[in-house]
Amino acid sequence: MPDLLVTGGAGFIGINLVRWWLDRHQDDRVVVLDSLTYAGNRHSLDAVMDDGRLEFVHGDIRNTSLVEELLRDRDLDTIVHLAAESHVDRSIEGPDEFIDTNVVGTHSLLKAARAAWQDQDGSWRRHRFHHVSTDEVYGSLGSDDPAFHEGTRYAPNSPYSASKAASDHLVRAYHHTFGLEVTTTNCSNNYGPYQFPEKLIPLMILNILHGKPLPVYGDGMNIRDWLFVDDHCLGIELALLKGIPGETYCIGGNNERTNIDIVRMLCSMLQDRVVGDETLRARFPECPASRGESIEGLITFVTDRPGHDLRYAIDAGKASNDLGYEPSENFESGFRKTVDWYLSNEPWWSKVMDGSYRDWLETNYESR
Ligand code: NAD
Ligand code: DAU
Repeated sequence: MPDLLVTGGAGFIGINLVRWWLDRHQDDRVVVLDSLTYAGNRHSLDAVMDDGRLEFVHGDIRNTSLVEELLRDRDLDTIVHLAAESHVDRSIEGPDEFIDTNVVGTHSLLKAARAAWQDQDGSWRRHRFHHVSTDEVYGSLGSDDPAFHEGTRYAPNSPYSASKAASDHLVRAYHHTFGLEVTTTNCSNNYGPYQFPEKLIPLMILNILHGKPLPVYGDGMNIRDWLFVDDHCLGIELALLKGIPGETYCIGGNNERTNIDIVRMLCSMLQDRVVGDETLRARFPECPASRGESIEGLITFVTDRPGHDLRYAIDAGKASNDLGYEPSENFESGFRKTVDWYLSNEPWWSKVMDGSYRDWLETNYESR
């Protein structure tokens, strides 16, 4: 049974993955390594922290000797690498951290894995390095193009996606040159509990509740392929258990939506919820629905994201055939679960929105 080092385990997908894994693998241990950037929240792991099988280590993936020591001391045979700078808009404002964390950080992790798992004589102990990557490495699709698949040519367009593409190449090279047993998943847009409210869906939910403008970039016709986060966790689990070293697997939701459709769905769902619930009206007096007004009036078309990719879509055929991957959440129920989670977890989001993040949000969104 594997014992996992999960990097970035205090971020959105990391938290969901840790919970997913511990629920399903009773004999496994998980060590989370996270440097707790603005996007990491140690308390999100509180509900599982009592579990004696989980350990949290506050540290940086760029600290090669720390990672090597963790792998050796805790006798860990598997790395699930999620730690990254993950927000495209931030990568446009300041690419440096994306190169440091996503490229240099991934390389540091690969070096540590090799140092801990390869013996002097060149033989390897049992191990797996799983790299969690994105569909954005493939660039942008036209409206009628076939979906991305494992053979699609890399064509990253933002500093974020370029840094992820570089990390994918490093992972591949460590397999090809040194024999490190790697698998990579390239996944589409995730949504669900614990997502930091800078990303489209949670940002819109919280702005709706607070009666703030809903900034839709460009004409709102960009398309993303949305996947409930648990289905991404399933894809990662299957790649770890059944994936072939050296292979990559595209994971997606088969659920393409324009941004404006997403925003309108959220407006409509929350309109009904707030109008029909006195407690919500009292909690969120600034929400237009609390005053009997339409939430859709908050939609504001703003300057487009520079280099904004038009469309992402994933063909998950290989994962389905080779791993038995099939997403199980349908979009309407996943969407509803997500809205419910944000309504029920105000202490979480009010905490993560404190301080520097709130300032960043206000200068970057309200002034456009
Ligand atoms: P996130 O921004 O919510 O979390 C990233 C986590 O990494 C945070 O906890 C942060 O503290 C940690 N971290 C950052 N730099 C670190 C460092 N140097 N050392 C240790 N920890 C560090 O990101 P997410 O949305 O959970 O994404 C996780 C991974 O999945 C990323 O690699 C991302 O590229 C990939 N991915 C995300 C999506 C998506 O839709 N969110 C889709 C496909 C792939
Ligand atoms: O495709 C996978 C990727 O999905 C991941 O690799 C990234 O880590 C993740 O952040 C996400 O990238 P996107 O850029 O697609 O996600 P974001 O939520 O930032 O934006 C989704 C779409 O919504 C995109 O077309 C831009 C648009 N958008 C976003 C924000 C934050 C808006 O119109 N307004 C906004 O305020």
